[in-house]
Amino acid sequence: MLSHQARQASECVAPGVFGERIFDLVQQLGQHSELPDGLMCTYFSSVHKVVAAQLRDWMRSAGLTAEIDPVGNVVGHYAGAPGATQTLLVGSHYDTVANAGLFDGRLGIVTALVVAEYLHRAGLRLPFHLDIVAFSEEEGVRFSAPYLGSGAIAGRFDENALARRDLNNISLAAVLLKEGVDLAAIRALARPPKTLRGYLEVHIEQGPVLLDRGLPVGIVTSIAGSARFRVTIEGVAGHAGTVPMALRRDAVAAAAEIVLAVERRCSAAADLVGTVGQLAVPHGLINVIPGRCELSLDVRSSDDTTCEAAISDLCTEIEQIASRRRVSATVAELSRHRAAPCAASMQSALAAAIARAGVVPFYLPSGAGHDGEMFAGVTDIGMLFVRCGNGGISHSPLETVTVDDADLAARILVDVLINLD
Ligand code: HGY
Ligand code: MN
Ligand code: MN
Repeated sequence: MLSHQARQASECVAPGVFGERIFDLVQQLGQHSELPDGLMCTYFSSVHKVVAAQLRDWMRSAGLTAEIDPVGNVVGHYAGAPGATQTLLVGSHYDTVANAGLFDGRLGIVTALVVAEYLHRAGLRLPFHLDIVAFSEEEGVRFSAPYLGSGAIAGRFDENALARRDLNNISLAAVLLKEGVDLAAIRALARPPKTLRGYLEVHIEQGPVLLDRGLPVGIVTSIAGSARFRVTIEGVAGHAGTVPMALRRDAVAAAAEIVLAVERRCSAAADLVGTVGQLAVPHGLINVIPGRCELSLDVRSSDDTTCEAAISDLCTEIEQIASRRRVSATVAELSRHRAAPCAASMQSALAAAIARAGVVPFYLPSGAGHDGEMFAGVTDIGMLFVRCGNGGISHSPLETVTVDDADLAARILVDVLINLD
C-alpha cells in the first residue's frame, strides 16, 4: 500500500481525466479490421499484428517497457517500488469475434493502459510490479481454442489446440512455427504462481443487469464454466426430387432436432445456457438432400454440476435422435473450462474502491467467459464490470458504454491499485 500522502494525492483523481482518452484509444483500435464493413481481429492475422504493435507502442509511450510475446500477448511492465517482488497482472484481450463491438476486451486493455500512464506521470510506484497485458486470443475464433494467450501466461496453454486447423486448413502449430515459436517458448511464458500478486480485469458486462439497475459498474463474483463441441452428422445425400420422405437419412433434419433439443434442455435450469452458433452444410445445394451437417455447441453454467449434467443429457439425446433418423453423430469436445470464482479479497478491494467513488457496490456473476478464468487457482482474480448500453448487447456493433462509466472504471482501478498492499 502506498504512503498516506501518495494515496491522498491519487484518490482524488478528478472525474473526466480518463474517459475521453479511453474512448479515443478504443476507437483507434477499431479502425483495424479484417472486414470491410465491421470489426474483426483474429489470431495472428495481419490486422492482429498491427493492433499488437500499436498497443506495444502505446504502452511504451505511457512509460512502460513493452514487448509482444511469442504467442502474441502484448505485455507492458511498470516496475514497482524498490523491494517489490510480485507482479499484479491487469489486462484483457485484443482479439475479437466477427462483426464485433469496439469494447469487448479492448476497454479493459486501454483502461489499464491509461491508469498505468497516470501512475507513471504521477511518479507513483506500487508495492508490486504492474504488468498490463493485452491477451492475443480469448475468443477462439480462428482455431476454436479460446484463451491461448492468457493460458500461456497462466501455465495452462492448451497444447491439444496445436493440431487444430483454421478455415484454410492451416494448423495452429504451423502458424506458430512460421512465427518462429516452439513449444518450449510457449511453456517459458508461464508465470510461477508465487511471483503473482493477483489478476484484475475491467470488462464490459455484455448483458443488461447493470443497465436495468441503473448502476455504472459491478463486481464479478464468478466466471461461468463453459464447454464447446463440434457435432458432425453423417446421413445420406440424395436427389431432392426422387427420394421418398420415409427413406431419407437427412443430416440437416437431424441437426434441426438437435438444435431444438439444446434449446429445450438448456431452458430447463435457471443457471444454464446452450447455444448452437454455427451450422454448416458442406457443399449444400438446393436440390440435394444434405448428407452431412456440422454444428457447434456451447453450454455454460456458473455451476459445474449443472453444466456437466446438461452436457451428458444432450449427448444422450443426440445419440437417440441420430439412431431414430438412421444417421451417425459424433460429438468432439473443443474446450472445457470450469466455473472460476473471483477471490473474496479482490471483490472486497473493488467494493471498497467503488464505495469511495460514491457508487453502491453490486455483485453479479459473469455468463461470458474471460481470460481471468485461466488465472483462477493460479492467483487471486478480480473483475470489474462496466455497464453496457443498448440493452446490454455485445458481440455486436451495437455494443456501447458511456464515457463517464469508462472514466469511473479507470478511477476505481487507480483506487484499487493504490490501496492494494
Ligand atoms: O464466449 C465468451 O464468453 C467470450 O466472449 N469469449
Ligand atoms: Mn467476447
Ligand atoms: Mn471479452
